[in-house]
Formats: sequence, structure tokens, C-alpha cells
Amino acid sequence: MRQNKQNSITTVIGKKGSGKSTLAEIISVCDDKPKIIIDPRMQFHSDVKRRVIFRNVEKLKLTLLDIDKFKEFYNRRLEIVLHTDDETEVEKLFEFVYRYMQKITLVIDEVDMFCNAYTQNSSYIYKLINFARHKEINIITTSRRPANISRSLTANTDTFYFARISEPNDLDYANKILNKEVIEAIGNLEKFEFIKYTEETNESVKLKTTLNNIEIIDSL
Ligand SMILES: Nc1ncnc2c1ncn2[C@@H]1O[C@H](COP(=O)(O)OP(=O)(O)OP(=O)(O)O)[C@@H](O)[C@H]1O
Ligand SMILES: [Mg+2]
Repeated sequence: MRQNKQNSITTVIGKKGSGKSTLAEIISVCDDKPKIIIDPRMQFHSDVKRRVIFRNVEKLKLTLLDIDKFKEFYNRRLEIVLHTDDETEVEKLFEFVYRYMQKITLVIDEVDMFCNAYTQNSSYIYKLINFARHKEINIITTSRRPANISRSLTANTDTFYFARISEPNDLDYANKILNKEVIEAIGNLEKFEFIKYTEETNESVKLKTTLNNIEIIDSL
């Protein structure tokens, strides 16, 4: 039997402008592992000094293969951001992470662009989702369209954050995970409020974000 949990997978769900990327950024700061951020829409703060932005994976790999940069990365003085929505490019990064990295946090904004119903079991994102725990890789994702997310990601997510949802398909998705009271609470959320659901303990709490913090409001 496994003694300790070796990784965590977190998924933030919400409509356009509901504050998902901001929340993902706050969650990622609370996590002390070195970070690689896939930011297809350039929503993560680019003015953070330790962040270096890449538009293709070859350059990113060359940087991490440099021993000094690699040390900076593992000492958390360097954070890697990949800014592209090119699926092939992002899959190359997933392969690199799967093959060579461990004990890091991978943040994937707008995850359904790269991990959806069409994602093959042979893809590296699928391997990461299913086997990242062996490498102690945390994964934090966001999505506007939960109905489009790969079921494999849903099944492996330890913690969900839901903003208010009203689309029938999105509600169907939430209905599969949460009980009726929690679904009702999600329907009543205000802007920048979220329900956090922890799968292991089956606990839900309501919280509100500021631009750089999370305030717990209530447990449900
Ligand atoms: N808690 C908050 N308080 C005030 N403003 C916020 C808060 N969270 C986010 N914002 C602001 O609201 C806007 C939308 O936030 P954010 O980009 O995080 O949302 P999103 O859900 O990722 O949007 P999208 O679907 O377009 O990617 C941004 O301008 C952000 O700075
Ligand atoms: Mg966003």
C-alpha cells in the first residue's frame, strides 16, 4: 500500500473571465515545486521576474539542459512558461517532462485544448496524468469547457475548483462528481467565488479569491 500521496492533480473549472487563471496562479504559488506553465493565452503574469517565456519547446529544452539554468530551475529561481497553443509543440513539452523531469509542478491553462476526448492513450499528456505520481509531478489545470476535458483527467483529479456554472453540459459534468447540495451552491456563487472539492475526503468548501489570495468562506 502506498504510504504517502506522491503528487496532486488539481482542476479549475469556470466560464470565461471567472478568475480561473488567477486562481491557478495562486494555487501554483502555494506549491513549492519548480514550475513549468503552459499558458496558451498569455494569462499568467509576465512581469514576474523569475519567469522566462518560450514560444517553442526546442529553446525551452536547451535552456533546461544547461546545467546552471537547470539548477536555477530546481532552486525555484527560474520559472518556465511556454506560450503557444500549438498542440504538437505542447505534446513535445509533455514528452520532455514525462521522460526527464520529476518533482515539479506542471500548470496547464485551458487544458481541454491539449487533453480532450480525442486524446490518445499513447500521448504523453495521458501518460503524465496517469503516471505523474511516480515522478512526484503535480498538475494544475484550468478549463472553461469541462464537458470537453478528457475523462482520464477527471478520473485522476484529486481537487476540483468550480466557479458558477449554468451550461447544461457543464452541469452534467459537475453532477457526476458532486452531490446535489454542492451543485446548488455552485449555482449561487458570485464572481470570483469557487467551490473547492477534495475527492479523497469528499469535502467541499466555498472560497473567494482576491488577485493574489484565497479566503475560505464556508464549508459545505
Ligand atoms: N479575485 C479577483 N478579484 C478581482 N479581479 C480578479 C479576480 N480574479 C481575477 N480577476 C480579474 O478578472 C479578469 C479575469 O480573470 P482570469 O483571467 O483569471 O479569468 P479566466 O477565468 O482565466 O478567464 P478566461 O476564461 O478568459 O481565461 C482578469 O482581469 C483578472 O485580473
Ligand atoms: Mg484564463
